[in-house]
Amino acid sequence: QLAAITLKENTNLPTAKKLKIRECSPKFANQRVEVYAWIHHNRNQKKIVFLELRDGTGFLQCVLAGDLVHPSIVDKLLREATIKIVGTLVVPPPDKKCPGGVELQADYWELIGSSDPDLEGIINQESNVDQLFDQRHIMMRGTRASSIMKIRSLCLFAFRQHFFENHYMEVTPPTLVNTFCEGGSELFTVDYFGKPAYLTQSSQLYLETLLPVLGDNFTITQSYRAEKARTRRHLTEFLHLEAECPFITYEELQDRIEFLVVDVCEKLYKMDPELILSVNPEFKVPKRPFMRMNYSDAIEYCKKNGIQKKLEDGTEVDFEFGDDIPEAQERKMNDQIGEPIFLCRFPAEMKAFYMARCPEDRTLTESLDLLMPGVGEIVGGSMRISDFNELVTAYKKAGLDTEEYYWFTDQRKYGTTPHGGYGLGIERFLTWLLKEEHIRNVCVYQRTKDRITP
Ligand code: 4AD
Repeated sequence: QLAAITLKENTNLPTAKKLKIRECSPKFANQRVEVYAWIHHNRNQKKIVFLELRDGTGFLQCVLAGDLVHPSIVDKLLREATIKIVGTLVVPPPDKKCPGGVELQADYWELIGSSDPDLEGIINQESNVDQLFDQRHIMMRGTRASSIMKIRSLCLFAFRQHFFENHYMEVTPPTLVNTFCEGGSELFTVDYFGKPAYLTQSSQLYLETLLPVLGDNFTITQSYRAEKARTRRHLTEFLHLEAECPFITYEELQDRIEFLVVDVCEKLYKMDPELILSVNPEFKVPKRPFMRMNYSDAIEYCKKNGIQKKLEDGTEVDFEFGDDIPEAQERKMNDQIGEPIFLCRFPAEMKAFYMARCPEDRTLTESLDLLMPGVGEIVGGSMRISDFNELVTAYKKAGLDTEEYYWFTDQRKYGTTPHGGYGLGIERFLTWLLKEEHIRNVCVYQRTKDRITP
């Protein structure tokens, strides 16, 4: 039986400076510091224990020896326990890689929150995807998942930076709505004090009403789709970045989207290249201009390159003009071409009621999808109908109740303007940027048909 010891901080040593891990750098070499963190990894070599600490701002290597690893207390240094640790920051020899370029040689530690040893059994090599995502709150603490959460945050910052630098204003419209934007089949209905209401599919219609108020404007707001499809890029709740711009042309709309994507990639990469490359070592900022391809040319491309549609009985036939190119085939085309593609000018029947027609062919719309290799569509956008009568006809054709949309129609009554906008799925963007296999890996907590927990 070992006599338990109690550690005491040596008050004769210089006062320690309280630092976040991100501040632990050679700047504080040979100084005494105090850090509060979670134990990310521990390696016990009997007389000496190596800890890797994590506090959300970075990772820090620590070395503990002597009484600090006395057998009566060392068992408390479990993975995910929280500790206060005090010691001297030293610059390790060049052949020893340490995050932040320093190592903490501890002279004192104190347990703040213990961790239960059952943690090791919660998720392991054998866990299947469902078990992993049941433990998302634990899994998120992992190196890769926590890096993705950081990139997600920086990504939102980069998008906002782009918009504010280019004089767009941010708006946050409500997500409980009584009209729909992208068609009725994928709507979540909620009981709103005895009347039906919906969770919004898109904030676009509200953004359009902000044009006379703010000019160029954008939002980063949740959208909801009751998607029954279980694909690796569909969520039922996603973060939707949408922008709306007055007095622009269809070409200018494409230029703006291209500028947004490239500028945000550049900004993000500049903010923390190491972090981005640690998750996707192949990351490269895409080159402008993006390929622009009409829907009709995409149909021809598929025919020429053996990309076919599958009928219900499993037989494969050529696509024809008017067919929706499904996700798998669209991705095949995109992957063959291997670069971003704007798919343009879709037939009106395939698209939402509000889209403006092409002046050269009124059966087509001034619409676009931006496809990225590996993921497919990350942006959908269009020019909008700006004529009052044309919009009223479009409501009727779509079977919409004109009365419900009076506020949207009024935009065409009091100072209409040609205008256009787009929506970009933040999770789709991140899935592409980080070359993730599945969209769920870039969500904080995924919402899909089969998952609402945790
Ligand atoms: O193409 P969508 O449906 O366009 C709109 O909603 C327009 N009202 C946007 C606008 O013009 N303001 O959706 C836009 C983007 C898609 O390209 C995709 O990136 C994302 O939103 N998205 C989804 N992301 C994840 N899961 C889903 N179920 C998504 N549905 C759309």
